[in-house]
Amino acid sequence: MMPMPEMKTLLQSRGKEVEAFLATCLDNRPLPPRLKESMLYSLQAGGKRLRPVLCMSCAALCGLAPEKVLPFASAIEMIHTYSLIHDDLPAMDDDDLRRGKPSNHKAFDEATAILAGDGLLTDAFVIMCRTPLAPDAVLKAVAELALAAGSSGMVGGQEWDMIYTGRPGIGLEELRSMQAMKTGALLRASCVCGALLAKADDAAVRAISDFGASLGLAFQIADDILDVVADTATLGKPAGSDATQGKNTYPSLLGLEKSRKLAREQAENARAALAAFTGVEADFLRALADYTVNRAA
Ligand code: IPE
Ligand code: IPE
Ligand code: MG
Ligand code: MG
Ligand code: MG
Repeated sequence: MMPMPEMKTLLQSRGKEVEAFLATCLDNRPLPPRLKESMLYSLQAGGKRLRPVLCMSCAALCGLAPEKVLPFASAIEMIHTYSLIHDDLPAMDDDDLRRGKPSNHKAFDEATAILAGDGLLTDAFVIMCRTPLAPDAVLKAVAELALAAGSSGMVGGQEWDMIYTGRPGIGLEELRSMQAMKTGALLRASCVCGALLAKADDAAVRAISDFGASLGLAFQIADDILDVVADTATLGKPAGSDATQGKNTYPSLLGLEKSRKLAREQAENARAALAAFTGVEADFLRALADYTVNRAA
């Protein structure tokens, strides 16, 4: 089993590689300076970089050098960052702080924030399509990612989230399904794309998909718990926002203790999905599953 400090070192070092890529991803393109500033503002505000690290590590788990998927993985972080910019808009969660800084629409303006999100989402696909690996593997991965990010994945989940906001008493199944779409889909796809780019066999892709799906559920339950128990300075986003907005969350439906238990169960399911894998990357991914529920922010 990989100890927590070692896991954090590897998470940070892969995260740094992603940040170096993101710093140059808009270079040599003719885009309006304020739009570029706004896109880079959110891309470079920090964040755990969990999705790209999962993509790189799942590729490595399947025998491909993680650097080979660095552009693709970084493009996933661009999509994630767009989703955060739009999630914070007044029309959605109306949050003024993100990654410890004023949200994009506060630092710039709403129109620029909407366009920065649109730009990050669309530009991400250029970077993905240019991944210098076998075209059939790249095509599969791009389709997987687009499905997960789009209307039957993250975007659809965000729509359910908005429909359920202020409507007390939704069922546990509705909540699970909404969270699997809005958060689980992109986390699962980050893992699966690493495996697809490495041309892993079907059994490995299935196991990695199960790992990502469980980790995704664990991750959003933990996010909901942190919104209740952590403070704004630690989170870098407004604590208590879910209650203010009338969001349906695991703690609001089940209370904190049951939510913690469910998050731990999902992290265990994620670990179990990788039972057939050995070695340092498998240990790292299993440690990441634990980190997902034990993190402070
Ligand atoms: C926040 O994701 C949005 C959710 C899906 C819960 P993260 O907690 O990964 O945000 P960053 O990237 O670290 O800022
Ligand atoms: C957001 O869920 C999921 C996204 C797809 C962005 P939340 O609304 O709970 O995320 P935070 O708490 O604002 O980061
Ligand atoms: Mg939201
Ligand atoms: Mg939010
Ligand atoms: Mg949240």
